[in-house]
Amino acid sequence: MPSSPSSRPLRVLHLEDSELDHELALAHLRRGGLVVNCTRVESRTEFEQALGQPWDLVLSDYNLPGFSGIQALQLMRARGLELPFVLVSGEIGEETAVDAMRNGASDYLLKANLARLAPAVEHAIEAAESRRARAMADREVQDSRAQLSALAQHLQTSIETERTAIAREIHDDVGGSLTALKFDLDWIRRHADSPAVQQRAVEAIELLTHAIDASKRVMHNLRPAILEQGLVAALQWMAGNFERRTGIECSFHTSHESLQLPAGVPLVAYRTAQEALTNVSKHAQASRVRIELTVGAGVLSLEISDNGRGMSDTDRAKDRSFGLRGLHERASTVGGWVDLSSGADGTCLILSVPIGPMAVPSPEEADMAEAPASRRREHDPSAWTPL
Ligand SMILES: Nc1ncnc2c1ncn2[C@@H]1O[C@H](COP(=O)(O)OP(=O)(O)O)[C@@H](O)[C@H]1O
Ligand SMILES: [Mg+2]
Repeated sequence: MPSSPSSRPLRVLHLEDSELDHELALAHLRRGGLVVNCTRVESRTEFEQALGQPWDLVLSDYNLPGFSGIQALQLMRARGLELPFVLVSGEIGEETAVDAMRNGASDYLLKANLARLAPAVEHAIEAAESRRARAMADREVQDSRAQLSALAQHLQTSIETERTAIAREIHDDVGGSLTALKFDLDWIRRHADSPAVQQRAVEAIELLTHAIDASKRVMHNLRPAILEQGLVAALQWMAGNFERRTGIECSFHTSHESLQLPAGVPLVAYRTAQEALTNVSKHAQASRVRIELTVGAGVLSLEISDNGRGMSDTDRAKDRSFGLRGLHERASTVGGWVDLSSGADGTCLILSVPIGPMAVPSPEEADMAEAPASRRREHDPSAWTPL
């Protein structure tokens, strides 16, 4: 039965000033095998009132006294009603037909050719149905994408919070106790009469020094305290450290010696550089990498480019690789984004974050923001002030 989806009669609203034409259309619909429940209205007021009820389709005459089919169609669309709309006219010129279709009519036909009415109505309803289904599916996909992205962003933020909490605990509990222990052992060494005990104490202090260094390292990986000295200092330190560790030449360039950045941005930039450098050492087979931090037109841009082997589309789409994907989500937590380009001459990753016009401080503000490189104190990863 080619009627409504639930096989109830099709609810048709017929805008038609002639009772005879209405009967004729109805006869054609029924002859075409459709079970219809059709209501005729003939004025704008009646039509508007009727739109408040549920319909499966609107069938409309083209010319009515003081009203027209096109106006009816526009009125319906203005109300956000996506009902299928079939226009029927005594004579329909090409221009009118084009106008009707442009306004979103599902179909148009001549009163002289009503044999086509039933198939046209069926087709219009099917098309509207599949449009509705597609729109719903699109909405669902969009919703679930948004949810997934919100979840990923939430995870990134919770990971950072968790890392900070663990780092704080290591600092306060483990770090504190180890340092106290070191003092005690040193006291024992100084007060011990037996050289054997003194020697044991020296060895224990050495071991403890290793443990303290290790806990500082762990703490730093969990929460980069160097960021307290500003992003510029942190990236400079990261570049030097990377070069020492990997032997890959790593240079750092910046357009500004100090920057005032919105909360959260330095950590996102730091983690981005960290992941990009890890990727360079793991995958790129590069001999050189360049980090560039610039601010222009209110946008912070961090670019990490290597001269390595580049990556393919398959590399980026790896199922179990979350580094690059995580960067996109991380960037969006501060309203930014990540662009990636890669070719035979290497890979370039750019983080962009709009930060507004206040990003670059005046020389006086700069003094209060980050200390210039020359005046930065020696980095102490165990230092603890809020980021
Ligand atoms: N700088 C790079 N040079 C070459 N290939 C890279 C580079 N960065 C990433 N890739 C490729 O992209 C893939 C995805 O990277 P990523 O999402 O960080 O995941 P993971 O590092 O865990 O593999 C990597 O496995 C690697 O094949
Ligand atoms: Mg990675």
